[in-house]
Amino acid sequence: MFTLAHLSDVHIGPLPRAESWRDYLGKRALGKINWHRRRRFLHDPAIAMAMIADIRAHSPDHVALTGDLINIALRQEFVEAALWLKAFGLPDWITLVPGNHDAYRPFPWAEGAGLWADYMTGDIKLPGSRGNVATEPVFPFVRQRRNIAMIGLSSAVPQSLFRAGGRLGVDQLEQLGQVLHELRQRGFYRIILIHHPPLPGLTTRRRALDDNESLKRLLEEHGADLILYGHNHRHGRTTLETRSGPAHVMGVPSATSPAQGDYDAAAWYLYKIRRLDGAWTANVTVRGWDGQKGTFVTRTTFDL
Ligand SMILES: [Fe+2]
Ligand SMILES: [Fe+2]
Repeated sequence: MFTLAHLSDVHIGPLPRAESWRDYLGKRALGKINWHRRRRFLHDPAIAMAMIADIRAHSPDHVALTGDLINIALRQEFVEAALWLKAFGLPDWITLVPGNHDAYRPFPWAEGAGLWADYMTGDIKLPGSRGNVATEPVFPFVRQRRNIAMIGLSSAVPQSLFRAGGRLGVDQLEQLGQVLHELRQRGFYRIILIHHPPLPGLTTRRRALDDNESLKRLLEEHGADLILYGHNHRHGRTTLETRSGPAHVMGVPSATSPAQGDYDAAAWYLYKIRRLDGAWTANVTVRGWDGQKGTFVTRTTFDL
C-alpha cells in the first residue's frame, strides 16, 4: 500500500514588507489591497501548522502540494515559502507544483519558484518528462515511488489584472501525452498534480485553465488514475471516463481556510492506494478543520 497526503493553497501570510514601491505596481497593487481588505481574513497560518502536525501523525509515504504557496509573488514571499517547505519536510517526501499566486507577476525563476525546485524535480526520465534542472522550469516532471508515478504540471502563468486563470501550453500538453502513454505501458498508477481544476466547468472562466478542453481530450485518450488539484478553495470530486478507465479528479480546500463565506474549511485528503487482484483501488479519508475543537477530524471516508 502507498499512502499519499494531498493539501493545497497554503497562501502563507502575512505579506512581508515590500522592498520598494516598484513592488506594488500593476497587478500586485491590487493584490496587496485585496490581501489587506479580504484575503488575510480567509487564511490563518496556524491552521496550516495544525494540518502539518495532523499529516505527520498519519505518517503518509508521500505528500502532494498543489500550489498557491504564496500571495502576490514578492521576492521575500518566495524566500519565506522555501523556509516553510524545508520545515515541513524533505524534497523527496513532498512533491509540489506551482499555482497562479506563485506566478502573480513575471519573476526570474531562479530567485522565485526556482527556490522550491528541489520539490518540483523528477526522479525518473521518460520520453516527454523533464529532468533535474534548477535553472529553468521543469514541467512535466515525473516521480516514481514503487509502482506509483506522480506527474507534476505547471499551470502557473502570470495573468492580466482581474484574471486568475492558468495555462499548460502546447509543449507541456504534448509532453504529458507521451508521459501518460509511457507510464500506462509500464503499468504504473498515474497521479497528476495540477493547481487549476483540470476540466471545463469546475470553476468560472475568469479562474479557469485556458486549455482545459485540450487537457480533457488528452486525458480521455491516455487516461490517468488520480488527478489532484486546488485553486477553488473548495472540495471537489469528479470522474472522467477515459479509454483506460475512470480518472478520479479531486480538489481540496485551502490549507489555511477557517471557513468564511464561499469557501470550505481547510482540509487535506489521505489516499491509501493499493493493487488488489490486478486492479487498483484507492481509499480516501478526508481530514477537515474543526474550528470549535481547534483540530483536524475525519469528515468522511470513501473508496474510489
Ligand atoms: Fe489559492
Ligand atoms: Fe489559485
